[in-house]
Parts: sequence; C-alpha cells; structure tokens
Amino acid sequence: MVSNVKLLFRPFETPEDAARVPFRVKKMRHPFFSWLGLRPVFAQHSAAEHEVLQRRATGRKKVVEIGVAEGASACALRESMSPEGTLYLIDPFHLTRLRALNALKRAAHAAVARSGKCRVEWIEDFSQKVVANWSGAIDLLFIDGDHKKEAVMKDWLDWSPFVAPDGIVLFHDARVFPGGWPTPEYGPVQTVNDLFRTGSQQGWRILEEVDSLVVVGRIQ
Ligand SMILES: C[S@@+](CC[C@H](N)C(=O)[O-])C[C@H]1O[C@@H](n2cnc3c(N)ncnc32)[C@H](O)[C@@H]1O
Repeated sequence: MVSNVKLLFRPFETPEDAARVPFRVKKMRHPFFSWLGLRPVFAQHSAAEHEVLQRRATGRKKVVEIGVAEGASACALRESMSPEGTLYLIDPFHLTRLRALNALKRAAHAAVARSGKCRVEWIEDFSQKVVANWSGAIDLLFIDGDHKKEAVMKDWLDWSPFVAPDGIVLFHDARVFPGGWPTPEYGPVQTVNDLFRTGSQQGWRILEEVDSLVVVGRIQ
C-alpha cells in the first residue's frame, strides 16, 4: 500500500544503512525536523513489520495503539483500517525536554493527519491509567509503549480482556530475529515467551511472527 507519508524504516543504525540513509537525514534525528517535514518520519519498525500492521489492520473498526512516538505505525494502522472506524492513540509524550514545544507529539499529529480517513482519538496519558476508564471491545491492539517486562505484562493483563473474540493483539520488539535489534532480555521478548511459548496463557495462540513483531489471537 502506498503511503501519503514518507517513512524511513529500521534498521537505520547499521553501517550497511549508511548508503540508504543520507548523512543529512542522519543528522536530523530530532522529531522537530519530522514535524517541519524536513526529513521522513523515523519508523521504529521494519518495512516487513509495516506490511503486517497494514494487512492486519485492514477493515478493522476499533484499533488501539499503545506507544505512538513519531507516528509511523499509527500511519500504517490508519491507512488500512475502516474509514468508519476509530483509531485510539495512547502516548503520554512525556520524554520531551521542552514540554511546551513537544516536537515528538507535533510530529506524530502531523504524520497521522496525512494518513487515512478514520476518526482519531489522541489520549495523552500512560496506558496503565487510560485503561481504568476504558470500555468497549477492541478489534486490534498494538502494544509498543513502556518496554519494561512488568509494564508489557501489565499492558497485556489490563487490555487483552477488552479484545473482541475475533480481535488480535500485536507486540512489537517481542522477538529475536537474525540481524535484528531485540535481545533475549527485552521486556516484550520475555513477556511473549512467558505467555505464549511456555503455554502459560490459555486461550490464545501466536498467529504470525515477522521480524520483531508477534501477532496473537484467541483460539476459536
Ligand atoms: C517504541 S516507541 C513507539 C514506536 C511506534 N509504535 C512506531 O512503531 O513508530 C515507544 C513510545 O511509547 C511511549 N510510552 C512509554 N510508556 C508508555 C505508557 N505507559 N503508555 C503509553 N505510551 C508509552 C513513549 O512515549 C514512546 O513514544
């Protein structure tokens, strides 16, 4: 699917990527430059993962993303989900040094505004707090917020009960793969291993795994 927003996919840190990513762009890592449209949006995922996000979101109506950053994955979701649906984007955008400016938040809003047609609800808070006031079934839940093991597990325990019977959950940075960035110590890797590879989480199974992305659904 062709995107309205120019994205730069991971990996972009390796020496091999030096040729692909112009030096000028590498120097412009701050989200301020993305907000002003001076460089592509830095996706924190690979092109193959982006394809999975788009394919799995196709036609879905109630989509929740935990952890938005510059908005690349939110663009993938909004572009493919139903135009009649609602995309809920949860991120406290708390890691900025200049809160009044908050370039990361502005970059994300600018990118998402150019992608897709569905309604977007921005929820500027921590997922652990947002869930207290949540109601209604979720078609697709993307967990990519706080990466500490306890936090990923809490997101799963808090949010998965809201996932519809035919809904799915996607975990990012949740799998070690050749040439990839996650290590076995990553919180999402450990959480997915504990839940779905040891069989401790009943009623769910892994549907698909691409690079660091793991998609799970209920056993029907
Ligand atoms: C890895 S980035 C998300 C990348 C994005 N999904 C993408 O693929 O382009 C993690 C984001 O999670 C946010 N975050 C951290 N803790 C969070 C929490 N408890 N709830 C929601 N978002 C959180 C951070 O502010 C950061 O923007």
